[in-house]
Amino acid sequence: MIIDKLKIITSNFDIPPDRIDLSIGQPGTSLLPLATLAQAAKHCLTRDNSYILAYGAEQGNWYFHNSLAGFLSEQYKLSVDPDHLFTTTGISQGLDFICGLFTRPGDTIFVENPTYSLALGIFADHRLNVVGLPMDEDGLIIEAIEEELAHQTPVLLYTIPTFQNPTGCTLSATRRKKLVQLSREYNFLIVADEVYQLLAYKGTPPLSMAKYTETATVLSLGSFSKILAPGLRLGWIQTHPDLMKRLTTNGMIYSGGGLNPFTSAIVQSAIELGLQEKQLSHLKEVYQQRKNALNTSLRRNLPDSVSFVESGGGFFTWLQLPQHVDAEKLLPEAHKHDVSFAPGSFFSPRRDLKNYLRLSFAYYEEPELVEGAERLAAVITRQLS
Ligand SMILES: Cc1ncc(COP(=O)(O)O)c(C=O)c1O
Repeated sequence: MIIDKLKIITSNFDIPPDRIDLSIGQPGTSLLPLATLAQAAKHCLTRDNSYILAYGAEQGNWYFHNSLAGFLSEQYKLSVDPDHLFTTTGISQGLDFICGLFTRPGDTIFVENPTYSLALGIFADHRLNVVGLPMDEDGLIIEAIEEELAHQTPVLLYTIPTFQNPTGCTLSATRRKKLVQLSREYNFLIVADEVYQLLAYKGTPPLSMAKYTETATVLSLGSFSKILAPGLRLGWIQTHPDLMKRLTTNGMIYSGGGLNPFTSAIVQSAIELGLQEKQLSHLKEVYQQRKNALNTSLRRNLPDSVSFVESGGGFFTWLQLPQHVDAEKLLPEAHKHDVSFAPGSFFSPRRDLKNYLRLSFAYYEEPELVEGAERLAAVITRQLS
């Protein structure tokens, strides 16, 4: 059927029709705001601003940055300077760009263990030596960083400080401060991937790492992928003017100009019309309900030997299985029962953490999440009995 064909060529994954794939860490199609963007596009494209179709300024469109800075200042509860923003085509591109500018093949970087699995692919592209450091419920363990720093200094440390992918954990305010002190003392960059910073469903997370961008070691990366739509391919880096200079003075930017001037102008309208804020409130409500549906069903159905920590936001629930269980080996059995997940080893630079798995509550609606948790719990229960 033509619809099926279109689905295959327009989506980056392909799920068998009966499977509930809880590994998918992206918004479901019902949450993609076509009408909102049509309204924003109309507002943007009927103004006298044909400059948005020209090559853009190196750092990005200042009018967009001005609107974004206003939105972020309100959301972050921090004053954000538009001149400290650089437009990217999303965090993935921002990370790749930063690696290209600040690292050389063979350089050492520190990451959380576990970390965002697809960032590991970007680091591999740049042939970096990736050292994973342990975390607990308050994020990266500072003593473990200090211990590693006694042996080697990384060029950069990559962290997802808030509602981390995959654990859902958040780096405490005290540790954030200590981490920044260490970056100054040992002279390494902190690349903070803040993709889930605005997706808090309970309580308020510590202030964004943007708070520390007056220090010339911190780059705070944000994205519209999880708060508006991933297909926009739009994000930003907030950083100190010294680091900004490195972002704007390079061959790629000289040749192509600033990134994504057209889309950023449409998103500027979405912000100015209040549509971005409205969409964010809607998403937070929906995701909170989805998280509750998944986690309640997990609690009801999983054996006692499987545990997880309830996250206050983001997209994920991270399950810990008994030590002897290898989640990757559970996958074929899970697929036989039409459910899937992301095994813990995918998120580890050394492919350890085998007895963990990651579930996402972002993609499916509540009944499917409940059903998916029941199917998964049945598979795990059989394996453990
Ligand atoms: C931690 C993390 N960083 C980055 C991304 C991708 O961001 P973007 O779409 O802005 O490239 C994701 C998406 O799942 C993510 O979980």
